[in-house]
Amino acid sequence: MNKQRAGVFIAFEGGDGAGKSTQAARLAAALDSRGYTVLRTREPGGTTVGEKLRSLVLDHGNGEIDAHTEALIFAASRAAHASQVIRPALSRGEIVLTDRYIDSSVAYQGAGRNLGLEAVRSLNDWATSGLQPHLTVLLDVDPQLGRRRRTAGQAAEDRLESEADEFHTRIREAFLSLAAGHPQRYLVLPAHLPVDELAGQIFARVDTLLAVPAPAAATDGGAS
Ligand code: TYD
Repeated sequence: MNKQRAGVFIAFEGGDGAGKSTQAARLAAALDSRGYTVLRTREPGGTTVGEKLRSLVLDHGNGEIDAHTEALIFAASRAAHASQVIRPALSRGEIVLTDRYIDSSVAYQGAGRNLGLEAVRSLNDWATSGLQPHLTVLLDVDPQLGRRRRTAGQAAEDRLESEADEFHTRIREAFLSLAAGHPQRYLVLPAHLPVDELAGQIFARVDTLLAVPAPAAATDGGAS
């Protein structure tokens, strides 16, 4: 059953170790129990080609990947994701929760790799034909806390995660500046808050969003 009339598109963003997946899962469960149809997905990945691109760009051992190539791989994965997964789900009236979207490229490749925020933004607007989330939940994480969290289980860091703290600090600042530019489209929360408190605040905001009829399609052309 689709309680919502038009699809709603929500992105979770933040640095590595921010707890996005945990919060996306909590929100999905809360919405599901209220009768909404929810699609949870992630980037890079979400499609067959996207999962292949994910291994290519994240695994160590694929040789050198320069910054432009890296940005194009993420954008290619996203193009497939937007057209094959996100837009169809929105047309069916579902709530789409994605773990990362365009802001991750703007922050990691634009700021982290110094390719420029605007260049990476326009590449991705082109790749997705301007598909923007109705709401972005930004979990703001201190890079050192993020690193402690992701290495706590002895998990090996991927190519991006293993970059120096300065790289992750540039990313954090870029995410915050994106949110500051469009406060009405963002919910920014400190990632160190208890999981239940974060889940409660996120649900409250989404509940408000769902009370207002969403535009028929996720906002097109609202980039920048
Ligand atoms: P992932 O395992 O999904 O990290 P997390 O669980 O923290 O979301 O790995 C994704 C990595 O790829 C992460 O370090 C961020 C990076 N990334 C980019 O650099 N650009 C992008 O556009 C996306 C989507 C991810």
